[in-house]
Amino acid sequence: MTKVKIAVVGAGLIGLSTAVCISESIPGCSVTVIADRFTPNTTSDVAAGILIPHVYPGTPVHQQKQWFRETFDYLLGICNSSQASEAGVHLVSGWQIFKTVPEEKTPFWSDVVLGFRSMTEKEMKKFPQHKFGQAFTTLKCDCPPYLLWLEKRLKENGGHVHARKIEDMWELHSDYDIIVNCSGLGSRKLMNDQEIHPIRGQVLKVHAPWIRHFIRDGSGLTYIYPGVHDITLGGTRQKDNWNLSPDPNTSKGILSRCCALEPSLHAARDVKVKVGLRPTRSAVRLQKEVLVRGSEKLPVIHNYGHSSGGFSVHQGTAREATWLIKEYVAALEMSSCKAKL
Ligand SMILES: Cc1cc2nc3c(=O)[nH]c(=O)nc-3n(C[C@H](O)[C@H](O)[C@H](O)COP(=O)(O)OP(=O)(O)OC[C@H]3O[C@@H](n4cnc5c(N)ncnc54)[C@H](O)[C@@H]3O)c2cc1C
Ligand SMILES: *[C@@H]1O[C@H](CO)[C@@H](O)[C@H](O)[C@H]1NC(C)=O
Ligand SMILES: *[C@@H]1O[C@H](CO)[C@@H](O)[C@H](O)[C@H]1NC(C)=O
Ligand SMILES: *[C@@H]1O[C@H](CO)[C@@H](O)[C@H](O)[C@H]1NC(C)=O
Ligand SMILES: *[C@@H]1O[C@H](CO)[C@@H](O)[C@H](O)[C@H]1NC(C)=O
Repeated sequence: MTKVKIAVVGAGLIGLSTAVCISESIPGCSVTVIADRFTPNTTSDVAAGILIPHVYPGTPVHQQKQWFRETFDYLLGICNSSQASEAGVHLVSGWQIFKTVPEEKTPFWSDVVLGFRSMTEKEMKKFPQHKFGQAFTTLKCDCPPYLLWLEKRLKENGGHVHARKIEDMWELHSDYDIIVNCSGLGSRKLMNDQEIHPIRGQVLKVHAPWIRHFIRDGSGLTYIYPGVHDITLGGTRQKDNWNLSPDPNTSKGILSRCCALEPSLHAARDVKVKVGLRPTRSAVRLQKEVLVRGSEKLPVIHNYGHSSGGFSVHQGTAREATWLIKEYVAALEMSSCKAKL
């Protein structure tokens, strides 16, 4: 039978990781990524890229844990290979600290990260405003290098990328057999999904190479995440705010909150301000839908709405989306065999 043609809409973290996974696990198909924005211009490029799970209230915890474990173990393998530097994947140790002791002192993901433990009294002395803390080692993806590396792997596997804005999924109907919807916040218009909304995040990317340890306030509002080339300082969580322009007053606030935790950041240089809109939903939408127009059918596999935690689960959700596509491709091949008989 002729090659099954798959279009992946979206070239952020989710689109590229899903496209790579398809190209590696479904032999004999062709994969094309179509998007209006590519690295370094996606939301994924703004992110710190650290693997600390966000909690999706609408997804069962065992499912979230499985996605996180698959992603963590996969990246740990890359980190432990000669590819680590090009992929921008590295280990980072640090502290998550709390002003009030959390109900769950041991989160569901504590046995996935490395060396999880409560902070000692001596460690807590650095943070007199905080009552409790967790120490662990996790992974971080540096963006844009990680996205560039995914794009390169996709091309090595025979995949293609196209710059194009899609107004309506049916535009792709004549050229592709299956559409994979990884359009992030674009889904609001593209799929008329009113549940997805932005949570605005403003961050600073600064040069302060002496900082090696991450520090995250458990509220998620203040964080210091050292990467390969720069350090991400955050942040904000502004619901339903679509403004992509940096706000100077917010930047001041971020710097002063981070300096309160790590005073040496007063000497940080090369401060760049970035803004991203987290594609937020109560649950990641991972399902198959068959769009129908008259007698025509267009199968769409959705994989979007990763909110504040895309990096933490992307490989797990890419595998699940690929599995849904595999089932569909198998059914297509079956019917084409029958047609030949
Ligand atoms: C400040 C900030 C910090 C973050 N830090 C972390 C972190 O440390 N760890 C973590 O796990 N997560 C973090 N996140 C969350 C993470 O960035 C997101 O979960 C993830 O980037 C979502 O990826 P995506 O591919 O779905 O979306 P995007 O990166 O937004 O990609 C969407 C793609 O779809 C394309 N598209 C959309 N609509 C159309 C259309 N109509 N036609 C064509 N193309 C279209 C776009 O052009 C783009 O290529 C952070 C987010 C922000 C904003
Ligand atoms: C990113 O955006 C800038 C400014 O709009 C543009 O000049 C550049 O070509 C874009 N890069 C890519 C890879 O699309
Ligand atoms: C790390 O690399 C070593 C040497 O290649 C290998 O033996 C080991 O299994 C790897 N461990 C992980 C977790 O990838
Ligand atoms: C992606 O899904 C969203 C949500 O259902 C939808 O609004 C959008 O049209 C979809 N995009 C495509 C290309 O199917
Ligand atoms: C500036 O930001 C601080 C918080 O960091 C806020 O309390 C204050 O109202 C802001 N001022 C203006 C003019 O927006």
